[in-house]
Amino acid sequence: MKKVLLIAGARPNFMKVAPIYAEMKRRGDTFSPIIVHTGQHYDRAMSDAFFSDLGMPEPDINLGVGSASHTQQTAKIMTLFEPVVESEKPDWVVVVGDVNSTIACALVAAKMGVKIAHVEAGLRSNDRRMPEEINRILTDSISDLLLTPSPDADATLLHEGVDESKIRFVGNVMIDSLLDHLKVSERSNIRETLGITAGEYAVTTLHRPSNVDDRETLAGIVGALAEISTRLPIIFPVHPRTRQKLADFDLDRVLSDSQVKLIEPLGYLDFLRLYSGAKLVLTDSGGLQEETTVLGIPCLTLRENTERPITIEMGSNVLVGVDPEKILAEAYASLDGRRSESKIPPLWDGKAAERICNELEKPAA
Ligand code: UD1
Repeated sequence: MKKVLLIAGARPNFMKVAPIYAEMKRRGDTFSPIIVHTGQHYDRAMSDAFFSDLGMPEPDINLGVGSASHTQQTAKIMTLFEPVVESEKPDWVVVVGDVNSTIACALVAAKMGVKIAHVEAGLRSNDRRMPEEINRILTDSISDLLLTPSPDADATLLHEGVDESKIRFVGNVMIDSLLDHLKVSERSNIRETLGITAGEYAVTTLHRPSNVDDRETLAGIVGALAEISTRLPIIFPVHPRTRQKLADFDLDRVLSDSQVKLIEPLGYLDFLRLYSGAKLVLTDSGGLQEETTVLGIPCLTLRENTERPITIEMGSNVLVGVDPEKILAEAYASLDGRRSESKIPPLWDGKAAERICNELEKPAA
């Protein structure tokens, strides 16, 4: 029996951990999975709602770290996770994605001699000003098993000198959750509640510090969104960080005069129902670039770079940066149908968790 600590810390982790947990439970003779929630995200809308929507049980262990500076948050997770590893003595620590919880728990495992598997290994934005980029590079460099979502990630790791024997192309586990829940999300009445019809609205999300912490940048994006909303309404579920910044910079008033509708962050099923009916998505999220790729929804990424270049290669995603003119030009190109058909990347097929478990099942090298 392999005892596995599955680490979930922040919103984008939950839909990656859920299918792995479910698959390990199906293989109950082989795996004993324990969900450790670091508590990096803690609001109901940012955390609990995802556990219930994704059919995950309450976390077995919650470290309850909460918000703090990146250093303090990372250090606190490490301090609280060490005794968990000590008492549970796992065979594997499985970390997903690139948030502070990912590197914090991986580093503890490395120092305690426990094997680490990193799900979503090998992604690089090549922008070290991004906190997630540091988390990605460091986590990959100390992991024993690098489970990659796309062939570009394998190529990146090999280029960085990683031994080929550690790398496994397993596909995108977040897409397992998407495909599992697409049908059931039809039960959500979010579109009715908001009074919108599929294909006649856009969706936006913003939370990157580089976009929302600087007044001028955020003002430019907000201006572009207000302008686009003269063509079609934009639904904007607002991350707590962004809510605070819009208020601090007095930009919420600009939006209240437009057809951009600010709403609270949504749970997994409501949000899936929302974006799956969108004509256009404008975002700085990593995951949403991938989710729109699978559904063939045009996505404009409001960043200068992406660690998910395959979404651009497939044709669904365009990097537009934060220049309002560029955002408007690409938004109108999409709305006017001047975009070509997109494709789905290999192994984004809903079976990544099976492949991940197959790899973890293999006897230790
Ligand atoms: C984190 C991840 C980011 C991911 C994002 C998804 C890191 C470095 N960043 O960014 O990669 O895309 O999650 O949301 O790990 N807050 C609340 N309630 C919560 C959580 C946060 O109000 O449940 C507020 C707090 O004011 C907090 C701020 O949001 O200070 C930022 O939270 P934090 O966890 O530091 O980073 P995110 O911006 O959410």
